[in-house]
This record gives sequence, structure tokens and C-alpha cells, in this order.
Amino acid sequence: MPEGGYYSSKKTDDICEDVCGQEATRAALSMSRLRCMLRGLDFKAYILLFVIIPTCILGIYVHGQKISYFLRPIWESPPKPFIDIPHYYHENVSMENLCKLHGWGIRESPRRVYDAVLFSNELDILSIRWNELYPYVTQFVLLESNSTFTGLQKPLVFAGNRDKFKFIESRLTYGKIGGRFKRGENPFVEEAYQRVALDQLLRIAGITDDDLLIMSDVDEIPSSHTINLLRWCDDIPPILHLRLHNYLYSFEFLVDNKSWRASVHRYQTGKTRYAHYRQTDHILSDSGWHCSFCFRYISEFIFKMKAYSHNDRVRFSHYLKPSRVQDVICRGADLFDMLPEEYTFKEIIGKLGPIPHSYSAVHLPAYLLQNADKYRFLLPGHCVRERG
Ligand SMILES: *[C@@H]1O[C@H](CO)[C@@H](O)[C@H](O)[C@H]1NC(C)=O
Ligand SMILES: *[C@@H]1O[C@H](CO)[C@@H](O)[C@H](O)[C@H]1NC(C)=O
Ligand SMILES: *[C@@H]1O[C@H](CO)[C@@H](O)[C@H](O)[C@H]1NC(C)=O
Repeated sequence: MPEGGYYSSKKTDDICEDVCGQEATRAALSMSRLRCMLRGLDFKAYILLFVIIPTCILGIYVHGQKISYFLRPIWESPPKPFIDIPHYYHENVSMENLCKLHGWGIRESPRRVYDAVLFSNELDILSIRWNELYPYVTQFVLLESNSTFTGLQKPLVFAGNRDKFKFIESRLTYGKIGGRFKRGENPFVEEAYQRVALDQLLRIAGITDDDLLIMSDVDEIPSSHTINLLRWCDDIPPILHLRLHNYLYSFEFLVDNKSWRASVHRYQTGKTRYAHYRQTDHILSDSGWHCSFCFRYISEFIFKMKAYSHNDRVRFSHYLKPSRVQDVICRGADLFDMLPEEYTFKEIIGKLGPIPHSYSAVHLPAYLLQNADKYRFLLPGHCVRERG
């Protein structure tokens, strides 16, 4: 390319210089420049049309969820904060004193306790739950369906493994319900349908006024001392949410301490309805553990990813590849490659990236530690799962 020459503008596109740089006559120069500019524009327009716009569309398609989650603080304000009730406990402090510390009196005899769950396939976590609560629960109520919330057929997993739970057989009220298998329906409808059936099963189990009822998913496990406190103390609130330590995949990954959906109710006939959303402003601190996706086998992770109420999150089939699932578990990353669901930029940014490893196995369910060989995959340092 000749320096200086007819070309004064250094800003012309290289491609134009190559093609048009050889123009001979000065007369033609201005015309050709115009043509070059137009051609340059054309070229840019083509790039815009065939490269940038499709890239953006693909980008929004692939990362749209991330973008909207990241911008959430703009379009959604946080829910009203809970009123935390301080929780006092030490094994050597008498129940009378514990109740008093909470501003409650002590009863002459404890309330009866009902623990009611909708069961899908989480056998290991059910076993830890029932062993934790066993000393204080009057009736374990379990309902299972042959349909997932998303309308997929599923085997009656509990029925097939009932013999593993002989220790609670005399306190068990078991029910099964047929799925409705409605295609394309919102999964929350099937879930609500199953919860109504659970209300009926509770009445069959003989629940009466002022009995304590635990409403929670199988993987939301109240600590036994929490339930013992609430059954012994007099003036506890009629409804109380339980704040649980929030774990993912195992007790190696402590996400936060903000799990709140589990609740405890003083049952009122005709009024109490089984629910898994916010029902009151009061929450009791440090009341147990929520261990999401705490499965033994990779196949269980994949089943849950498909059966989950938010199954629209499985946006790409490679999310379900066993090797990817295993890798995500060991890193403490997100199975659905999503951003944290938070309401402030500070919290979103603070939670970006994998969950830090925790090396504490202190204050975990006793049964888990007593049977560490059997449940090793739930303890810190043992993220590798069996395929199953
Ligand atoms: C709890 O009480 C027992 C029996 O009274 C006593 O031996 C033990 O040292 C106490 N533990 C603590 C941590 O205070
Ligand atoms: C689900 O269970 C119901 C009731 O037990 C039964 O009638 C129905 O055939 C079952 N459906 C499937 C697909 O297994
Ligand atoms: C959760 O609470 C425990 C103690 O109760 C504390 O050690 C831990 O740092 C807390 N974790 C987070 C993520 O807030």
C-alpha cells in the first residue's frame, strides 16, 4: 500500500483499501470513495445482520436466565424479612429453663407430634430424617404418588423399600395416590393436589387440635431438640417457620443459613392446611438442616432434575450427562448453570461461583455420624458418587 498518495484518510476500512486502493484518476477518486464507503457500510450491515444479531439472540437464549436473574434486584424487591426468634439450646440446660429463655412456660406433658411428608425418591435422607425425629414423633405420615409433580410416571419407591423402615412401622401412616398425568400443566397444580391428599391422610392418622404438625419437604430436617422444645413449651406461636442451614449435594457445601419453608403448626381442625409457602412472619433460628440434592447415586440427581417443579431449568440435554453432573457436584457448582436467586446485587455477587467447601461435620444429625460408613457421600471430602 503506497504511503500518502491519494489516500489521506487512515480511517478507511482495510478491505476497501485493498479492493479500491488502485483507482487511477483523481476524477474518479471521490466517486470511488463514496462507493467504498457504501460498500463498507454494506459490509458492516452484513456483519451486523449475520453475525452480531444472531450472536446476541443465541447469547440471550443461552444466558437469558442469567441476565434476568442478575437484573432481579431491579425488577423485584425482596420479600418482607422474617422476625427471627432467638433459639436457645444446650443439652445440659433443663427444659423448664429452655422454655423460660424463649419466654414460654412448660407443659405438664408434651404435645403429640405429627411429621408429614410428600415422598418422591429420597430414601437416604428420609432415613436420616426419621431417625433424627424418632424419639419425639407420635405418627410419621408419608404420602407418595406414581406421578412426579411434572407429570412423569414414577415407581412407588417407598412401597418398594418399606421393609428398610421397620423401626417406625408401628408409628407409620402410609398413603399412595394416583397421578393425574395432565400434559403441559403447571407442576404446582399436581403438587397442590398431593398436598390436599396429605391433609386427608393426616386426619386418617388421627391428628387432633393442638397436636404439633411439621410441614416440610423430606430434605428439610428439623433437629430433634427443636421439636422437643416445641412439644414441651406452652405458649409457642400457632405457626412458626424453621430457619435451617441450607446445604447442597452434601454437608460439605453450606450455601447459607436462610432456608425458611419448613414450618411447625399447632394443629387446628378445619383451619390448618398443609402448605409449603410463607405462612407467618415468625421464624425460629438455627432449627435444623436443609440438604437439597443430597443423593447417593448420579441417577437420582438426573431423575430429580427432570422431576423438579422447575424442570424448565433443564434447558440443554447435556446438563443431564452423568460425567457433567459428577463434576458439578464435586465443584459445588450449579446443576442448572444458574445465578444465585437473590434480591440485592451485593448478595448475588457475593454468591457468584461455586459454594466454598466446608470441613465441619459438627452439629449434624446424630444418625448420620453414627452410620458414617453408610452415608459417607454426605460428609465433607466425599463428593464422588456411584452411578447407580
Ligand atoms: C452435662 O451434665 C453432665 C451430668 O450432669 C456432666 O457430667 C457434664 O460434664 C455436663 N456437660 C457440660 C458440657 O456441661
Ligand atoms: C397410578 O396409580 C393409580 C392409582 O393407584 C392407578 O390407577 C394408575 O393406573 C397408576 N398409573 C400409572 C401410570 O402407573
Ligand atoms: C451459618 O451458621 C453457622 C453457625 O450457626 C456459621 O458457622 C456459618 O458461618 C453460617 N454460614 C453462612 C454461610 O452464613
